[in-house]
Amino acid sequence: MSNVKTLPSWRALTQHGVMPQANHDEVARLNVLTHLNLHLSSRVIPGLRQVYDKHVHPAFVKEHGREPETRHEVRKVMMEDGYCQLWSALRRNTMEMRHQTGRAMVLRQADALSKKVEQLNKGCDTLQLDSTIEVPVNISQVDIHCQPGCYYQEYFDQDVTVAASYDVGLFVTTAGLLGGLSDGGGQAIANWLKSEHPNFKPKRILDLGCTVGHNAVPLAQAFPDAEVIAIDVATPCLRYAHARAKSLGVDNISFVQANVESLPQYADESFDLITSAMFWHEASHKMLPKALKTVQRLLKPEGLTIHLEQPQYHGKSVFEQFMRDWDTYYNNEPYWGPMHDLDLAEQLDKAGFDGSAMFEIGVVAKVDEKIFGKSAAGDSGEDFGRAPVWNAFGLWKK
Ligand SMILES: C[S@@+](CC[C@H](N)C(=O)[O-])C[C@H]1O[C@@H](n2cnc3c(N)ncnc32)[C@H](O)[C@@H]1O
Repeated sequence: MSNVKTLPSWRALTQHGVMPQANHDEVARLNVLTHLNLHLSSRVIPGLRQVYDKHVHPAFVKEHGREPETRHEVRKVMMEDGYCQLWSALRRNTMEMRHQTGRAMVLRQADALSKKVEQLNKGCDTLQLDSTIEVPVNISQVDIHCQPGCYYQEYFDQDVTVAASYDVGLFVTTAGLLGGLSDGGGQAIANWLKSEHPNFKPKRILDLGCTVGHNAVPLAQAFPDAEVIAIDVATPCLRYAHARAKSLGVDNISFVQANVESLPQYADESFDLITSAMFWHEASHKMLPKALKTVQRLLKPEGLTIHLEQPQYHGKSVFEQFMRDWDTYYNNEPYWGPMHDLDLAEQLDKAGFDGSAMFEIGVVAKVDEKIFGKSAAGDSGEDFGRAPVWNAFGLWKK
């Protein structure tokens, strides 16, 4: 596995002011899981294609006298294959173990973490929590990607453990390729704006579903004169995100507890730029159209809305769709497949935009190559969603 020698240790992550501390055994566990993930994506996944081409696909055609027509047909026959079952079980287990490792690590320092976070957040009006906001069903009904407590659960007063655990564990799933601050996606958007639209200087930016602010912070740094508002429903994430940003010296973001379905506190056409990162695949069919309508209402004419997301399924082979759809069935991501089936231009149209103006671009998450080396999947490598090569869709409002 030639690229594994470039894989960093979890210790290479930037130690911002509220980063949980790891002991030797925890780092070892996180590193083993990261290597296992990389092994699965770089060595085991190519074998799945062979299994399909040599055995599963011919057997299907022989039995049915036709090609498989949907990813669901492919899933049914692939999941009966032993190699595929092993890959799927290992992938699920790396996710479960990522969370168990992160969780054990943050629980043993839970009080100290809460105190650090409280100290950094003290007296700041840029953290705006609202206990009347209800946790929406799209995240209350399911522990998204097997994360115990999802994004919002609090086990004691001032608890930030679910947020800290998310921050710790993302490295395992992305093999560090999002960079030292897991912010490669936000950096990629900021860099794309600077290179492709150098005259666009947003004064007011809204980030939807910010979680711990990984991708809102680089936007705030790229546009230091802008006011950035980062929205989430999850109290522990917002507390942690605000303290994390403060500790990184970023003061131009307000972290606000609100539901993106309506946001009545903000005036029509009051934002120049509205972003999200990896947000829509966790949105239910009920929530997504409402949130897009909110974006349409809040965006100024000539403003930009841009969203990092995995590519839609349309136009992809049924095998590729099956691979990309694994999360829907085996990773507690029930909205993943239905969302990736949508015609986004049509959804934008329904929200009141001109959907024909929608663009799609490939944004490669920027990797800090000084620490992390070259992307393990290669610059154009495809590993069906493990490498941080994000599709971005968006439009300029007319
Ligand atoms: C996959 S995470 C997004 C990751 C994040 N954008 C980043 O840059 O790392 C999805 C986030 O959306 C939040 N969320 C889900 N539904 C929401 C809603 N209706 N309103 C506001 N936030 C929501 C969740 O609490 C969670 O933090």
